[in-house]
Amino acid sequence: MAFGGGRALLRAYRGAQAGGYAFMANNVAEPNVLIGLLEGYVARRSDLVVQVSPGAAKFAGRGDKRVGLRVLSAMIRELAAGVPIGVFLNLDHFTVDEMPLIAEAIKERLVSSVMIDASKEAFDENLRISREVVALAEGGDVLVEAELGRIKGVEDEIASAEAFYTDPGEAVEFVRATGADLLAVSIGTQHGVSKGKDVVLRTEIASDIRDRLAAAGMPAPLVLHGTSGLLPEQIREVIACGICKLNKDTRYQYEYARAACAFYEAHRQGIVPPRGVVDDARGLFSGSDWSPDKKAFDPRVAGRAVQVRIKDVAIELLEQAGSGEEALFGGEA
Ligand code: G3H
Ligand code: ZN
Repeated sequence: MAFGGGRALLRAYRGAQAGGYAFMANNVAEPNVLIGLLEGYVARRSDLVVQVSPGAAKFAGRGDKRVGLRVLSAMIRELAAGVPIGVFLNLDHFTVDEMPLIAEAIKERLVSSVMIDASKEAFDENLRISREVVALAEGGDVLVEAELGRIKGVEDEIASAEAFYTDPGEAVEFVRATGADLLAVSIGTQHGVSKGKDVVLRTEIASDIRDRLAAAGMPAPLVLHGTSGLLPEQIREVIACGICKLNKDTRYQYEYARAACAFYEAHRQGIVPPRGVVDDARGLFSGSDWSPDKKAFDPRVAGRAVQVRIKDVAIELLEQAGSGEEALFGGEA
């Protein structure tokens, strides 16, 4: 099926809700992580959710978020063409400041879903902004994720020093009034490098919200941000409480650096001239007998090491989430 829209993505989330599993939502900013993810998800027959934050769009667009989003969306669409799984793209932590870009992404179907993050605003303002995005998406094929509560830590351009837990009563009112398709909740996780052993999870908040939404006839899939530091048993616990999208960014960033670091440490002698050799990168060492080794310095070789590492991590994480062997979109759309 390859790149899918919001309706297909909602089917995938409904499948997860019914089957008691979840999807990792994996942040990407460049091709190596994306290719590793695709390989891992194809190998384990899971549909794949990737996401792009405003910071990632800015990075990929040489400072221009609009350009970067278009580049990343096209890259994801092209790389996904022909793969035997569904591939979905979510805008992650987009704010009211990016409203024109959100509108463009919806109108041109650059994405499958959009997260509007107005969680730093007071309830009424959060509701108003989130509803505005839902109105933009109305009648189209793009889902909207809104957030209620606040996650501690730093995620790209979003930072919060404090966590505010989501109020279950407000959650029902919020989903009803905004019409959001997915609800991101705050139950104690943190963005960035956090330690599961120190995280105090209030999973009862998630199960309460899930039950209240179901009773109100609005079974919005629940989203949890800041899951990189959670222990496997905590992942199982939150899924059992109704979380069906778990956002991961920091873990891939770390694994990328670790794989690159190991590669360059092991191949240093093919890149850096030994003592006594004139350091003449400009002339590619043509005045000396020593030569650098293309197998060490070609960025594609280190890039491939990163891709393979990300593939392994993607498999580990999707198996934690339970989405392996569950691909709904293996065949033609
Ligand atoms: O939106 C992205 C995620 O919430 C990132 O969380 O820093 O734990 O990977 P993380
Ligand atoms: Zn997040």
